[in-house]
Amino acid sequence: MALIISSLFHFGFFVLVAHFATPIVCIISSHERPQAALFVFGDSLFDPGNNNYINTTTDFQVNWWPYGESFFNYPTGRASDGRLIPDFIAEYASLPLIPPYFQIGRQHFVHGVNFASGGSGCLAETNRGFVIDLKTQLKYFKNVAKVLKKKVGATESKQILSNAVYIFSTGSNDYFAPLLTNSRFPYSDREYLQFIMGNLTSVLKGIYKEGGRKFVMLNLGPLGCVPTIRALNVQNGVKNGSCMEEITNLAKMFNSALPEMLKELEKQLSEYKYTIFNFFKVLAESIDNPTKYGFKISETACCGTGPFRGVFSCGGKRQVKEYELCKNVKDYLFFDSVHPTELAYQQYAELMWNGTPDVVAPYNLKSLFECST
Ligand SMILES: *[C@@H]1O[C@H](CO)[C@@H](O)[C@H](O)[C@H]1NC(C)=O
Ligand SMILES: *[C@@H]1O[C@H](CO)[C@@H](O)[C@H](O)[C@H]1NC(C)=O
Repeated sequence: MALIISSLFHFGFFVLVAHFATPIVCIISSHERPQAALFVFGDSLFDPGNNNYINTTTDFQVNWWPYGESFFNYPTGRASDGRLIPDFIAEYASLPLIPPYFQIGRQHFVHGVNFASGGSGCLAETNRGFVIDLKTQLKYFKNVAKVLKKKVGATESKQILSNAVYIFSTGSNDYFAPLLTNSRFPYSDREYLQFIMGNLTSVLKGIYKEGGRKFVMLNLGPLGCVPTIRALNVQNGVKNGSCMEEITNLAKMFNSALPEMLKELEKQLSEYKYTIFNFFKVLAESIDNPTKYGFKISETACCGTGPFRGVFSCGGKRQVKEYELCKNVKDYLFFDSVHPTELAYQQYAELMWNGTPDVVAPYNLKSLFECST
């Protein structure tokens, strides 16, 4: 059994840090520290409205009714009826809502910034020209770090950045985009995965270089089971509209490569910590057993049209204008053809915050936020 015990002095307290092969709780310093900030990266699962500000198409935007109907009462640019996972995490961490990058003035970002962009993936090719790719998100983060340093000074900005939590939802669109645009890639699944992991790794290293230490990754959900892909299956002649196994298998490949990659980084970067939220497990469970999560309907979306309301037309502003909207959104796991409802996100965020190692490991977010670096 691998057991390494290292000791160090930290703020004058003697602290023991144990690395077990199984999940552990990181050591919490009793020293008073400022609230850890939250920096957010990735795709539409996390985008709080960045795509409202870029030159894109309505395929990558959601800033119209009924998006936002359950919470904000106006469309913020979040792809749901209300709040997203980072909004709940900010609340649990006693932070204000984390603003989209394009909404920060030069003032309000000591609590963090959200760089996520709907439609983006780990690869620059994914929906290129319509989204802010991950590498550009890193570039924007570097701008923020630079301004922060000017504002609060080198010592304090270093402390804010190293104490902050960096949360990612990315990778799904690298698999959705080729499928939905019917494009062929001159890569094998294995090569494609290596590119994805390689690009993701360099972004994580880039943040580390700026001082980031605590990383949270969502793995990929069962991509073949979202209403859009079921509808595509119906279109392809699969009568019952079951999940598309091929793309779910690609997500599984990603999900087994992810912890390997993160572990490898841990060897290279001395102060780096990470945790993985098993989004695949909770989403698959919610689909197979919706009542466990309080839902009645887990295959059909609340908003959209066609089979499973899987045609991505919610709000009628995209190519397809017709759409239906369910009466009771609280019964549904999926709000539109691709994205979960606020109620689903809330439950997932709670699991991330104080869940057990079967869904979030090696740390839950509560301990990662409190963890000293
Ligand atoms: C926005 O995109 C459209 C089409 O992709 C293009 O014609 C237009 O020049 C772009 N506008 C700006 C300001 O980049
Ligand atoms: C990033 O992805 C591109 C393909 O989009 C690939 O050519 C490049 O090698 C990847 N970078 C790394 C570091 O893996």
